[in-house]
Amino acid sequence: MTRKFALDLVRRPRRNRKSATVRDLVRETELSVKDFVYPVFIMEGSNKEEAIPSMPGMTRKTVDVLLKELEECFSLGIQAIAPFPSIEESKKDHTGSESYNPNGLVPTCVRAVKEKFPEMVVMTDIALDPFNIDGHDGIVSPTGEILNDETVEVLCKMAVCHAAAGADFVCPSDMMDGRIAAIREALDNAGFTNTSIMAYSAKYASAFYGPFRDALDSAPKAGDKKTYQMDPANRKEAMLEVSLDMEEGADIVMVKPACYYLDILREVADMSDVPVAAYQVSGEYAMLCAAAENGWLDRDRVVLESLMGIKRSGAKMIWTYFAKEAARLLSKEK
Ligand code: PBG
Repeated sequence: MTRKFALDLVRRPRRNRKSATVRDLVRETELSVKDFVYPVFIMEGSNKEEAIPSMPGMTRKTVDVLLKELEECFSLGIQAIAPFPSIEESKKDHTGSESYNPNGLVPTCVRAVKEKFPEMVVMTDIALDPFNIDGHDGIVSPTGEILNDETVEVLCKMAVCHAAAGADFVCPSDMMDGRIAAIREALDNAGFTNTSIMAYSAKYASAFYGPFRDALDSAPKAGDKKTYQMDPANRKEAMLEVSLDMEEGADIVMVKPACYYLDILREVADMSDVPVAAYQVSGEYAMLCAAAENGWLDRDRVVLESLMGIKRSGAKMIWTYFAKEAARLLSKEK
């Protein structure tokens, strides 16, 4: 082919892409199974497992079934799990009192996991929605307001209950004001100075949580979560939330969802002096599964690419329902 233009280039970035081995040498971001936190759905009883239609491949399971799955997780190198409970309707009330029952589903699960896999890091969710008859993360007043300070009191009891069961991290996902300081103080007063707090700091009022709420049957009965979760339009507000949570004692801060909020993630990663987590939420998972099932996307590649994008944007750790699948893909790559 005759050249139309005489290119006289000194810098040719393509030289650094010329072979797989050169690309390996210059790669700026590495994805590792050690980055993953695997969220799992648990329920009461034994030897039961139920499919979650809007999250193909994910199930709700009893603790004994989870323990079997964790053997597989452990052998894949997954080091951290986050159990989310599905609570029977009969145990729900208006103040979420089941949330701090020491013999409740979550503490029972934490004890069982820590007994069998002491090195597995267990991160528990702190919010009232699975336990609250109203399906909100906080206590709802008779006029429909989400009561901040009253909720924080319950969250503190819940955090101490999980810490007593052996949780390594408690993870407030409720977005009430002042909860990190209050929980830190409650944990310290109860002697749990080594229990860490991962704060869902920039948690947006997102429609991408839909499949998760199906999984736990925890959608709000009335109203939405916009008076406590953040407006997707806001960036500065995320920095305020993160700054407050760091001042209040968060050991790790989180941005959630992940893939539509990578700008927020990058900015938080640049400004924070604690590690940053990102949550690839249920809707992000469901979308990729659906497109792959239709043959529209190459599942293996989009799973790893989505996680790489999140890591590159500054997440030190990634909560993902793809944890096991991605772990297998990464070990094949080597
Ligand atoms: C509950 C909670 C939610 C998620 C994690 N913790 C749902 C919500 O806030 O409504 C969402 C996770 C996901 O969609 O994967 N406080």
